[in-house]
Amino acid sequence: MYLLKLRLHNFRNYRQLSFTPPKGVTVLMGENGAGKTNLLEAIHLCCLGKSHRTNNDRDMICVESETCAVHATVERELGINEVGVRIYQKQAQKKLIYVNGKIVPRIGEMIGYVSCVMFSPEDLDIVKGSPQGRRKYLDMLLSKCDRSYFYALQRYQQALKQRNALLKVVAKSGNAKQLDVWDEQLSQYSKPVIIKRRNAVEALSQLATKHYNNISGKNDEEFTLEYNCRINETDSPEEKLFELLKQSREDDIRRQSTTYGPHRDDMDMYLCGIDIKAFASQGQIRTATLALRLSEIDILSSIQGEKPILLLDDVLSELDEFRRVRLIQYMKDIQTIITCTDMEDLRGAKPECVLRVKNGIVG
Ligand SMILES: Nc1ncnc2c1ncn2[C@@H]1O[C@H](COP(=O)(O)OP(=O)(O)O)[C@@H](O)[C@H]1O
Ligand SMILES: [Mg+2]
Repeated sequence: MYLLKLRLHNFRNYRQLSFTPPKGVTVLMGENGAGKTNLLEAIHLCCLGKSHRTNNDRDMICVESETCAVHATVERELGINEVGVRIYQKQAQKKLIYVNGKIVPRIGEMIGYVSCVMFSPEDLDIVKGSPQGRRKYLDMLLSKCDRSYFYALQRYQQALKQRNALLKVVAKSGNAKQLDVWDEQLSQYSKPVIIKRRNAVEALSQLATKHYNNISGKNDEEFTLEYNCRINETDSPEEKLFELLKQSREDDIRRQSTTYGPHRDDMDMYLCGIDIKAFASQGQIRTATLALRLSEIDILSSIQGEKPILLLDDVLSELDEFRRVRLIQYMKDIQTIITCTDMEDLRGAKPECVLRVKNGIVG
């Protein structure tokens, strides 16, 4: 798929922008703080209805503005579509999602039109950071692939919020009976989340070694992933979680939080069978991170039948020449937008278009 046009209005440091990237490689060059990542963030907003870096939508509204909007026109084999997002400063006004000019009632309805994979410096945290980053990686990947996952996750998270709120009430009132209904809902809603995450980790694991070795230039390292979940593959997720919630009820009430469930899952990563976090070098962590994103491209491409857009935010400068050249080879037949501060970072790439970004102006 291709991004034909991106329009921004009062988005971060952009007052007004119309950006029409070519189908090959575009480079956005500019100093720190120029607005390069902001532009990639706007594309991501059109992909999943949210930023890749903030949970607070209002951060994206240009200071002193009441509202911001982003519209992306994309070409797929099936035709041309336009999706848009409008965000308001006032809490009472909801975020509006547009598909082909019409407001749609749910965010999920925009999913599938714009498909992108973002490489960013913070990706290193997927490998070396907390489980939350790995869950976010999985959740974003699965949501891009499958609207029904996005809805299932939303349902689960809402039920979890309600159960946690109720735990606070129960801690005071002592009436735990009301928890029964939420235990049941949470267990039921966890099922698609657990099953789809498990399948995704399996699929990623099958792809990861190939990309890892391709980037590192060796072929003797095996990079594998395992879904780490209290509920085993052979368990029925609903029954098992229901049982665990019952067991942990007293603790949950005391702590006023839910101990078990997919919100506590993790993705374990192994290099040649050893936990990557325990020993991996910075270079190995970087390679593993790239392998995860490259595997994500494979999965999206095979599900959607078309390649996603690649967004490379400041990642080339961090790579040694060998890995950089390897990564650049992936951009051959795929629309790519790269940000950098220095043309030196791009040695080996053949951009179709180099644009300068300065104070929210691209030219
Ligand atoms: N809501 C906002 N309104 C106006 N400017 C913003 C907003 N959010 C961030 N900025 C500005 O955007 C710039 C950072 O843009 P960014 O895309 O992250 O830079 P870089 O080019 O280094 O990737 C900073 O100058 C910051 O002040
Ligand atoms: Mg940046």
